[in-house]
Amino acid sequence: METTTPVPTTTAAVPSEDGPAGSRGPLAWADGQILPACDATVPLTDEGFLRGDAIFEAVLVRHGRTHALEPHLARLHRSAAAVELTVDDGAVRQAIGDLLRAWGERDGAVRVILTRGGVLRGLIGAAEWPPSISLGVVEAPWRTAISGVKTLSYAANQWAVRQARALGADDALIVDDGIVHELPTGAVVLIRDGVCSTPDPDRLPILASVSIAALREVADVALVEPSLEDLLAADEVVVLSATRPCLPVHGLHLADGRRQELTAPGPVTQRLRTALEAHIASTLDEPPSQ
Ligand SMILES: Cc1ncc(COP(=O)(O)O)c(C=O)c1O
Repeated sequence: METTTPVPTTTAAVPSEDGPAGSRGPLAWADGQILPACDATVPLTDEGFLRGDAIFEAVLVRHGRTHALEPHLARLHRSAAAVELTVDDGAVRQAIGDLLRAWGERDGAVRVILTRGGVLRGLIGAAEWPPSISLGVVEAPWRTAISGVKTLSYAANQWAVRQARALGADDALIVDDGIVHELPTGAVVLIRDGVCSTPDPDRLPILASVSIAALREVADVALVEPSLEDLLAADEVVVLSATRPCLPVHGLHLADGRRQELTAPGPVTQRLRTALEAHIASTLDEPPSQ
């Protein structure tokens, strides 16, 4: 079992509004200190950097409060177990609390990264997206020995994004052997005749999305193995991730050059978004203690 280097549990120094970390840019947490994200470092020799051997979580922040922190931390622990890393839960919570206090009552996303070298780092920053996006369908073998584990090894995911951009789309939708899986950094919901469905993480090698779990608390969303035909028959398509709750899809770009326009947001998407936003607003985690 790998062990992590103990992380100082001192309260992070939060520079004043005049200081560099008081600016509006992203902030990092390193060794118990808050600093501008661009100044945070990881040793070159850390296998997290050298081989992407690291795990992470990204959590939605609204008005300086996280949403669904506990399921995200539970997934971090599952990821750690899958790749034999040890999570210092207290240090992770300390990092998130320090970052939230430094960020103030703003929206964004907070992220924790734990490397094989035992380095725990945190990041907080704004999460901004366009009102809708297009998806390029990218065929790729998606199953690995550690599918569904939130590791830092996203080179294949980034490759898929580039393939999608070459098709003229904003982001990729991974299809493996004719079955719709996930986006490189998000989950997908298909809507047809008012019925919502999403790829089932228990049957497919995809990340079990915390956002989908939240959506399923307020809407019926069936867990399925959707085919490419199901995607093409959808009336509406929606992307979800911690930083993108309910982002509508306005077009699908296929590898053979075909394009399909979609209403974005469609009527069901609007209902889902309203319900999910109300749910998020009413179930935000406690603000960090001062
Ligand atoms: C590959 C992948 N699938 C799905 C998701 C959506 O997960 P969540 O809703 O928990 O953010 C993410 C989010 O980062 C992801 O990276």
